[in-house]
Amino acid sequence: MAATVVDAEYLRQIDRARRELRALISVKGCAPIMLRLAWHDAGTYDVNTKTGGANGSIRFEEEYTHGSNAGLKIAIDLLEPIKAKNPRITYADLYQLAGVVAVEVTGGPTIEFVPGRRDSSVCPREGRLPDAKKGAPHLRDIFYRMGLTDKDIVALSGGHTLGKAHPERSGFDGAWTKEPLKFDNSYFLEMLKGESEGLLQLPTDKALLTDPEFRRYVELYAKDEDAFFKDYAESHKKLSELGFIRS
Ligand code: HEM
Repeated sequence: MAATVVDAEYLRQIDRARRELRALISVKGCAPIMLRLAWHDAGTYDVNTKTGGANGSIRFEEEYTHGSNAGLKIAIDLLEPIKAKNPRITYADLYQLAGVVAVEVTGGPTIEFVPGRRDSSVCPREGRLPDAKKGAPHLRDIFYRMGLTDKDIVALSGGHTLGKAHPERSGFDGAWTKEPLKFDNSYFLEMLKGESEGLLQLPTDKALLTDPEFRRYVELYAKDEDAFFKDYAESHKKLSELGFIRS
């Protein structure tokens, strides 16, 4: 695979794409689906075989038609004009930059973004992303396979502070928080309040309350938003760099 050369022109295009992403995400209110796209491109990583990861492979029909990616073609298409204007930027970088900007413009922490990911045309087999109907052991199986930790699982699950589930995409319905376009620690506050009218908790969200190791992070992030933002920014950076070999 050819290396991605990050020279002055590449960095100039990253800067321009960042500004264009801020505008697109604000105007369209599409931060949640951009964050989900970034996570689903990266979250296929397998630390043992060094396959999958943040490599742009989700742009191919073979992968975006996986059941867990339902709806994400919308985000892929929204990003095409930015790719066309900034053709040096790899899809892998563009999707991760979109995820970072989505968190930033909705009020979340600043996440360090290092460019230079390579694109791959090899799509992982279906089934590497988590199944929302399962519990804590499944979450560990999936996230440990990516090389991530219990703390990463809970911090990153806080991404559900943004957005909502769509019945026609996942079979689930509704938002996790009352302000799904604002990135804050309300996901954890709502979780600790228990089931409330009109708000969603997936079985995998509930697993964070029943497992004692996960729960201590839920309690910490509910009472200390700064701790959540700090850990989230670290875990998101790790997620965004799964499979990224710097050249
Ligand atoms: C949405 C499952 C982790 C970000 C969803 C949906 C499901 C789901 C079922 C609804 C999709 C739809 O109907 O449109 C899971 C499971 C996870 C997980 C089982 C395991 C822990 C994450 C992580 C992030 C994330 C790590 C980001 C850091 C999002 C966002 C949405 C979403 C932003 C809303 C998308 C929108 O509004 O269009 N997730 N997710 N999720 N997920 Fe997750």
